[in-house]
Amino acid sequence: MGMSDLYGPADDQESVRTIQAALDTGITLLDTGDYYGMGHNELLIREALRGRKREGIVISVKFGAMRDVKGNWLGVDGRPEAVKNFCGYSLRRLGTEYIDIYRLGRVNPQIPIEDTVGAIAEMITAGYVRHVGLSEAGEQTIRRAHAIHPISDVQMEYSLISRGVEDAILPACRELGISVTAYGVLSRGLLSGHWSKDRQTAPNDFRAHNPRFQGDNLDRNLALVETLRHIAQAKGATVAQAAIAWVLLRGEDIVPLIGARRREQLNEALPSLALSLSASDLGDIERAIPKDAAAGQRYAPQVMAHLDSERRS
Ligand SMILES: NC(=O)c1ccc[n+]([C@@H]2O[C@H](COP(=O)([O-])OP(=O)(O)OC[C@H]3O[C@@H](n4cnc5c(N)ncnc54)[C@H](OP(=O)(O)O)[C@@H]3O)[C@@H](O)[C@H]2O)c1
Repeated sequence: MGMSDLYGPADDQESVRTIQAALDTGITLLDTGDYYGMGHNELLIREALRGRKREGIVISVKFGAMRDVKGNWLGVDGRPEAVKNFCGYSLRRLGTEYIDIYRLGRVNPQIPIEDTVGAIAEMITAGYVRHVGLSEAGEQTIRRAHAIHPISDVQMEYSLISRGVEDAILPACRELGISVTAYGVLSRGLLSGHWSKDRQTAPNDFRAHNPRFQGDNLDRNLALVETLRHIAQAKGATVAQAAIAWVLLRGEDIVPLIGARRREQLNEALPSLALSLSASDLGDIERAIPKDAAAGQRYAPQVMAHLDSERRS
Protein backbone atom coordinates (compact mmCIF):
# COMPACT_ATOMS: atom_id res chain seq x y z
CA MET A 1 0.00 0.00 0.00
CA GLY A 2 2.62 2.47 1.09
CA MET A 3 4.48 2.00 -2.21
CA SER A 4 1.57 3.65 -4.00
CA ASP A 5 -0.51 5.61 -1.56
CA LEU A 6 -1.27 7.04 1.86
CA TYR A 7 2.23 7.20 3.36
CA GLY A 8 3.73 10.07 1.36
CA PRO A 9 6.17 9.83 -1.54
CA ALA A 10 7.67 6.50 -2.61
CA ASP A 11 10.19 5.58 -5.29
CA ASP A 12 8.81 3.20 -7.96
CA GLN A 13 12.17 1.68 -8.85
CA GLU A 14 12.96 1.00 -5.19
CA SER A 15 9.44 -0.39 -4.69
CA VAL A 16 9.87 -2.90 -7.53
CA ARG A 17 13.28 -3.90 -6.24
CA THR A 18 11.87 -4.37 -2.75
CA ILE A 19 9.14 -6.72 -4.02
CA GLN A 20 11.73 -8.64 -6.04
CA ALA A 21 14.09 -8.85 -3.07
CA ALA A 22 11.24 -10.20 -0.92
CA LEU A 23 10.47 -12.89 -3.50
CA ASP A 24 14.17 -13.74 -3.77
CA THR A 25 14.34 -14.43 -0.04
CA GLY A 26 11.37 -16.78 -0.20
CA ILE A 27 8.48 -14.48 0.68
CA THR A 28 5.48 -15.76 -1.27
CA LEU A 29 2.54 -13.52 -0.32
CA LEU A 30 1.98 -10.17 -2.01
CA ASP A 31 -0.97 -8.17 -0.74
CA THR A 32 -2.46 -5.31 -2.72
CA GLY A 33 -5.67 -3.39 -3.36
CA ASP A 34 -6.85 -2.20 -6.77
CA TYR A 35 -7.43 1.19 -5.13
CA TYR A 36 -3.87 1.55 -3.77
CA GLY A 37 -2.76 4.40 -5.99
CA MET A 38 -5.79 3.61 -8.19
CA GLY A 39 -4.14 0.74 -10.03
CA HIS A 40 -0.58 1.93 -9.45
CA ASN A 41 0.22 -0.80 -6.91
CA GLU A 42 -0.97 -3.58 -9.19
CA LEU A 43 1.22 -2.20 -11.98
CA LEU A 44 4.22 -2.24 -9.63
CA ILE A 45 3.54 -5.90 -8.88
CA ARG A 46 3.22 -6.64 -12.59
CA GLU A 47 6.62 -5.05 -13.16
CA ALA A 48 8.19 -6.93 -10.24
CA LEU A 49 6.84 -10.28 -11.47
CA ARG A 50 8.02 -9.83 -15.06
CA GLY A 51 9.99 -12.91 -16.14
CA ARG A 52 9.20 -14.84 -12.94
CA LYS A 53 7.19 -18.01 -12.52
CA ARG A 54 3.66 -17.19 -11.42
CA GLU A 55 3.22 -20.48 -9.52
CA GLY A 56 4.27 -20.34 -5.91
CA ILE A 57 3.42 -16.65 -5.59
CA VAL A 58 0.21 -15.82 -3.74
CA ILE A 59 -1.42 -12.58 -4.84
CA SER A 60 -4.10 -11.16 -2.56
CA VAL A 61 -6.18 -8.33 -4.05
CA LYS A 62 -8.69 -6.11 -2.30
CA PHE A 63 -11.36 -4.35 -4.34
CA GLY A 64 -14.50 -2.30 -3.88
CA ALA A 65 -13.29 1.14 -2.77
CA MET A 66 -14.28 3.85 -5.23
CA ARG A 67 -12.23 7.02 -5.64
CA ASP A 68 -12.51 10.24 -7.60
CA VAL A 69 -9.86 11.84 -9.81
CA LYS A 70 -8.15 13.42 -6.81
CA GLY A 71 -8.15 10.12 -4.92
CA ASN A 72 -10.95 11.06 -2.52
CA TRP A 73 -12.88 8.06 -1.18
CA LEU A 74 -16.40 7.76 -2.58
CA GLY A 75 -17.69 4.58 -0.94
CA VAL A 76 -17.60 0.86 -1.47
CA ASP A 77 -19.19 -1.10 -4.28
CA GLY A 78 -19.57 -4.84 -3.73
CA ARG A 79 -22.42 -5.46 -6.19
CA PRO A 80 -21.93 -8.63 -8.25
CA GLU A 81 -21.49 -6.72 -11.51
CA ALA A 82 -18.94 -4.43 -9.81
CA VAL A 83 -17.02 -7.48 -8.51
CA LYS A 84 -16.70 -8.83 -12.04
CA ASN A 85 -15.72 -5.43 -13.42
CA PHE A 86 -13.07 -4.79 -10.74
CA CYS A 87 -11.70 -8.31 -11.18
CA GLY A 88 -11.35 -7.94 -14.93
CA TYR A 89 -9.39 -4.71 -14.57
CA SER A 90 -7.14 -6.16 -11.87
CA LEU A 91 -6.27 -9.19 -13.98
CA ARG A 92 -5.31 -6.88 -16.85
CA ARG A 93 -3.19 -4.60 -14.69
CA LEU A 94 -1.48 -7.46 -12.87
CA GLY A 95 -0.85 -9.27 -16.16
CA THR A 96 -1.91 -12.54 -14.58
CA GLU A 97 -4.53 -15.12 -15.44
CA TYR A 98 -5.78 -15.55 -11.90
CA ILE A 99 -5.84 -13.92 -8.48
CA ASP A 100 -5.14 -16.20 -5.52
CA ILE A 101 -7.23 -14.41 -2.89
CA TYR A 102 -9.88 -11.87 -3.85
CA ARG A 103 -11.58 -9.81 -1.18
CA LEU A 104 -13.84 -6.83 -0.62
CA GLY A 105 -11.72 -4.12 1.04
CA ARG A 106 -14.52 -2.85 3.29
CA VAL A 107 -17.99 -4.19 3.94
CA ASN A 108 -20.84 -1.98 2.73
CA PRO A 109 -23.95 -2.90 4.74
CA GLN A 110 -26.17 -1.67 1.86
CA ILE A 111 -24.99 -4.58 -0.29
CA PRO A 112 -25.53 -8.07 1.15
CA ILE A 113 -22.21 -9.82 1.65
CA GLU A 114 -23.88 -12.92 0.23
CA ASP A 115 -24.20 -11.16 -3.16
CA THR A 116 -20.54 -10.10 -3.18
CA VAL A 117 -19.21 -13.49 -2.12
CA GLY A 118 -21.55 -15.23 -4.58
CA ALA A 119 -20.02 -13.18 -7.39
CA ILE A 120 -16.46 -14.04 -6.28
CA ALA A 121 -17.51 -17.71 -6.17
CA GLU A 122 -18.59 -17.37 -9.81
CA MET A 123 -15.14 -15.97 -10.63
CA ILE A 124 -13.65 -19.05 -8.94
CA THR A 125 -15.78 -21.34 -11.08
CA ALA A 126 -14.63 -19.41 -14.14
CA GLY A 127 -10.97 -19.89 -13.10
CA TYR A 128 -10.12 -16.21 -12.50
CA VAL A 129 -9.88 -16.41 -8.70
CA ARG A 130 -8.72 -19.19 -6.36
CA HIS A 131 -9.95 -18.23 -2.88
CA VAL A 132 -12.35 -15.80 -1.20
CA GLY A 133 -11.14 -13.45 1.51
CA LEU A 134 -12.60 -10.64 3.58
CA SER A 135 -11.15 -7.49 5.10
CA GLU A 136 -12.16 -5.70 8.33
CA ALA A 137 -15.32 -7.81 8.45
CA GLY A 138 -17.18 -8.44 11.70
CA GLU A 139 -17.98 -11.84 13.14
CA GLN A 140 -21.55 -11.99 11.82
CA THR A 141 -20.47 -10.97 8.32
CA ILE A 142 -17.75 -13.62 8.35
CA ARG A 143 -20.31 -16.29 9.28
CA ARG A 144 -22.80 -15.16 6.61
CA ALA A 145 -20.08 -15.02 3.95
CA HIS A 146 -18.68 -18.42 4.93
CA ALA A 147 -22.14 -19.96 4.52
CA ILE A 148 -22.12 -18.93 0.84
CA HIS A 149 -18.58 -20.04 -0.01
CA PRO A 150 -15.69 -21.09 2.27
CA ILE A 151 -13.70 -18.02 3.29
CA SER A 152 -9.95 -18.69 3.27
CA ASP A 153 -8.68 -15.62 4.98
CA VAL A 154 -9.78 -12.49 6.83
CA GLN A 155 -7.47 -9.48 6.75
CA MET A 156 -7.47 -7.47 9.99
CA GLU A 157 -5.36 -4.88 11.72
CA TYR A 158 -3.48 -6.77 14.44
CA SER A 159 -0.49 -5.61 16.42
CA LEU A 160 0.68 -5.20 19.98
CA ILE A 161 -1.42 -2.03 20.15
CA SER A 162 -4.41 -3.14 18.02
CA ARG A 163 -5.80 -6.31 19.58
CA GLY A 164 -9.56 -5.90 19.12
CA VAL A 165 -9.52 -8.85 16.70
CA GLU A 166 -8.89 -11.17 19.65
CA ASP A 167 -12.37 -10.59 21.13
CA ALA A 168 -14.74 -12.16 18.59
CA ILE A 169 -13.21 -12.17 15.09
CA LEU A 170 -10.18 -14.36 15.71
CA PRO A 171 -12.15 -16.95 17.73
CA ALA A 172 -14.77 -17.10 14.93
CA CYS A 173 -12.06 -17.51 12.29
CA ARG A 174 -10.48 -20.30 14.30
CA GLU A 175 -13.82 -22.03 14.75
CA LEU A 176 -14.43 -21.88 10.99
CA GLY A 177 -10.87 -22.75 9.92
CA ILE A 178 -10.14 -19.33 8.40
CA SER A 179 -6.66 -17.79 8.53
CA VAL A 180 -5.98 -14.14 9.38
CA THR A 181 -3.58 -11.88 7.53
CA ALA A 182 -2.53 -9.24 10.03
CA TYR A 183 -1.90 -5.75 8.73
CA GLY A 184 -0.59 -2.70 10.58
CA VAL A 185 1.77 -5.02 12.47
CA LEU A 186 4.06 -2.01 12.92
CA SER A 187 1.02 0.20 13.48
CA ARG A 188 1.87 1.93 10.21
CA GLY A 189 5.35 2.86 11.37
CA LEU A 190 4.41 3.99 14.89
CA LEU A 191 5.66 0.70 16.35
CA SER A 192 8.71 0.52 14.09
CA GLY A 193 11.12 2.23 16.44
CA HIS A 194 11.87 4.76 13.69
CA TRP A 195 8.99 7.17 14.25
CA SER A 196 9.71 10.36 16.15
CA LYS A 197 7.84 13.40 17.37
CA ASP A 198 9.53 15.60 14.76
CA ARG A 199 8.76 13.36 11.78
CA GLN A 200 7.13 15.51 9.07
CA THR A 201 4.11 14.11 7.24
CA ALA A 202 2.61 15.36 3.98
CA PRO A 203 -1.04 16.47 4.31
CA ASN A 204 -2.14 13.43 2.28
CA ASP A 205 -0.21 11.03 4.53
CA PHE A 206 -2.76 8.90 6.44
CA ARG A 207 -0.65 9.36 9.56
CA ALA A 208 -1.09 13.14 9.48
CA HIS A 209 -4.70 12.52 10.56
CA ASN A 210 -4.58 9.24 12.44
CA PRO A 211 -5.45 9.74 16.14
CA ARG A 212 -2.49 7.67 17.37
CA PHE A 213 0.01 9.98 15.68
CA GLN A 214 -1.36 13.21 17.17
CA GLY A 215 -0.21 15.39 20.11
CA ASP A 216 -0.40 13.76 23.54
CA ASN A 217 -1.47 10.44 22.04
CA LEU A 218 1.77 10.33 20.07
CA ASP A 219 3.82 11.11 23.19
CA ARG A 220 2.14 8.30 25.10
CA ASN A 221 2.46 5.85 22.23
CA LEU A 222 6.13 6.65 21.66
CA ALA A 223 6.73 6.06 25.39
CA LEU A 224 5.30 2.54 24.88
CA VAL A 225 7.69 2.05 21.97
CA GLU A 226 10.63 2.93 24.25
CA THR A 227 9.61 0.24 26.74
CA LEU A 228 9.51 -2.24 23.87
CA ARG A 229 12.92 -1.02 22.72
CA HIS A 230 14.49 -2.02 26.05
CA ILE A 231 13.05 -5.54 25.81
CA ALA A 232 14.00 -5.89 22.13
CA GLN A 233 17.55 -4.67 22.73
CA ALA A 234 18.04 -7.26 25.46
CA LYS A 235 17.25 -9.88 22.80
CA GLY A 236 19.59 -8.26 20.28
CA ALA A 237 16.59 -7.19 18.21
CA THR A 238 15.10 -3.95 16.98
CA VAL A 239 11.68 -2.63 17.97
CA ALA A 240 10.24 -3.55 14.56
CA GLN A 241 11.60 -7.10 14.80
CA ALA A 242 10.08 -7.59 18.25
CA ALA A 243 6.71 -6.20 17.11
CA ILE A 244 6.65 -8.51 14.07
CA ALA A 245 7.81 -11.55 16.06
CA TRP A 246 5.04 -10.94 18.61
CA VAL A 247 2.40 -11.21 15.85
CA LEU A 248 4.15 -14.22 14.28
CA LEU A 249 3.88 -16.01 17.63
CA ARG A 250 0.12 -15.51 17.92
CA GLY A 251 -0.43 -18.67 15.88
CA GLU A 252 0.39 -20.43 12.64
CA ASP A 253 -2.97 -19.31 11.25
CA ILE A 254 -1.88 -15.66 11.50
CA VAL A 255 0.25 -14.29 8.67
CA PRO A 256 1.80 -10.86 9.26
CA LEU A 257 1.85 -8.48 6.30
CA ILE A 258 4.85 -6.20 6.44
CA GLY A 259 4.48 -2.82 4.80
CA ALA A 260 8.17 -2.49 3.85
CA ARG A 261 8.53 -0.09 0.96
CA ARG A 262 12.30 -0.04 0.75
CA ARG A 263 14.86 -2.85 0.80
CA GLU A 264 16.41 -1.57 4.03
CA GLN A 265 13.01 -1.95 5.74
CA LEU A 266 12.59 -5.43 4.28
CA ASN A 267 16.06 -6.35 5.51
CA GLU A 268 15.20 -5.16 8.98
CA ALA A 269 11.90 -7.07 8.99
CA LEU A 270 13.14 -10.46 7.76
CA PRO A 271 15.19 -11.51 10.85
CA SER A 272 11.92 -11.41 12.83
CA LEU A 273 11.27 -14.86 11.39
CA ALA A 274 14.21 -16.19 13.40
CA LEU A 275 13.64 -14.15 16.56
CA SER A 276 12.60 -16.48 19.33
CA LEU A 277 10.67 -14.95 22.19
CA SER A 278 10.23 -17.10 25.30
CA ALA A 279 7.08 -17.15 27.42
CA SER A 280 8.93 -14.88 29.83
CA ASP A 281 9.85 -12.43 27.00
CA LEU A 282 6.22 -12.40 25.88
CA GLY A 283 5.15 -11.73 29.45
CA ASP A 284 7.59 -8.81 29.66
CA ILE A 285 6.27 -7.41 26.38
CA GLU A 286 2.64 -7.68 27.42
CA ARG A 287 3.34 -6.07 30.78
CA ALA A 288 5.16 -3.24 29.01
CA ILE A 289 2.36 -2.84 26.47
CA PRO A 290 -0.90 -4.11 27.96
CA LYS A 291 -3.79 -4.92 25.63
CA ASP A 292 -5.48 -1.50 25.59
CA ALA A 293 -2.37 0.59 26.16
CA ALA A 294 -2.50 2.61 22.93
CA ALA A 295 -3.60 6.21 23.17
CA GLY A 296 -6.14 7.00 20.46
CA GLN A 297 -8.16 4.74 18.22
CA ARG A 298 -6.66 2.99 15.21
CA TYR A 299 -8.71 5.06 12.74
CA ALA A 300 -10.36 8.49 12.93
CA PRO A 301 -13.86 8.40 14.49
CA GLN A 302 -15.72 8.82 11.17
CA VAL A 303 -13.83 5.83 9.75
CA MET A 304 -14.28 3.70 12.89
CA ALA A 305 -18.04 4.30 12.64
CA HIS A 306 -18.13 2.56 9.26
CA LEU A 307 -15.95 -0.44 10.06
CA ASP A 308 -17.97 -3.65 10.03
CA SER A 309 -15.30 -5.19 12.27
CA GLU A 310 -16.01 -2.61 14.99
CA ARG A 311 -19.77 -3.18 14.95
CA ARG A 312 -21.06 -4.76 18.14
CA SER A 313 -24.06 -6.99 17.41
N1 LIG B 1 -7.23 -4.53 4.85
C1 LIG B 1 -6.94 -3.30 5.19
O1 LIG B 1 -7.83 -2.52 5.55
C2 LIG B 1 -5.52 -2.81 5.14
C3 LIG B 1 -5.20 -1.54 5.64
C4 LIG B 1 -3.87 -1.13 5.59
C5 LIG B 1 -2.90 -1.95 5.07
N2 LIG B 1 -3.24 -3.18 4.57
C6 LIG B 1 -2.23 -4.07 3.96
O2 LIG B 1 -1.22 -4.35 4.90
C7 LIG B 1 0.06 -3.99 4.38
C8 LIG B 1 0.93 -3.49 5.49
O3 LIG B 1 0.25 -2.42 6.14
P1 LIG B 1 0.95 -1.16 6.69
O4 LIG B 1 1.83 -0.65 5.63
O5 LIG B 1 -0.03 -0.23 7.24
O6 LIG B 1 1.74 -1.77 7.88
P2 LIG B 1 2.97 -1.61 8.77
O7 LIG B 1 3.89 -2.71 8.41
O8 LIG B 1 2.39 -1.50 10.12
O9 LIG B 1 3.66 -0.18 8.50
C9 LIG B 1 4.52 -0.02 7.43
C10 LIG B 1 5.28 1.28 7.57
O10 LIG B 1 6.12 1.23 8.72
C11 LIG B 1 7.32 1.95 8.47
N3 LIG B 1 8.50 1.09 8.76
C12 LIG B 1 9.56 1.46 9.48
N4 LIG B 1 10.43 0.46 9.58
C13 LIG B 1 9.95 -0.56 8.91
C14 LIG B 1 10.43 -1.87 8.65
N5 LIG B 1 11.57 -2.32 9.12
N6 LIG B 1 9.68 -2.68 7.88
C15 LIG B 1 8.51 -2.25 7.39
N7 LIG B 1 7.99 -1.00 7.61
C16 LIG B 1 8.71 -0.17 8.38
C17 LIG B 1 7.29 2.38 7.02
O11 LIG B 1 6.86 3.74 7.01
P3 LIG B 1 7.83 4.88 6.44
O12 LIG B 1 8.47 4.31 5.18
O13 LIG B 1 6.94 6.02 6.17
O14 LIG B 1 8.82 5.13 7.52
C18 LIG B 1 6.22 1.51 6.39
O15 LIG B 1 5.57 2.15 5.35
C19 LIG B 1 -0.22 -2.95 3.30
O16 LIG B 1 0.79 -2.92 2.33
C20 LIG B 1 -1.54 -3.45 2.76
O17 LIG B 1 -1.33 -4.45 1.78
C21 LIG B 1 -4.53 -3.61 4.62
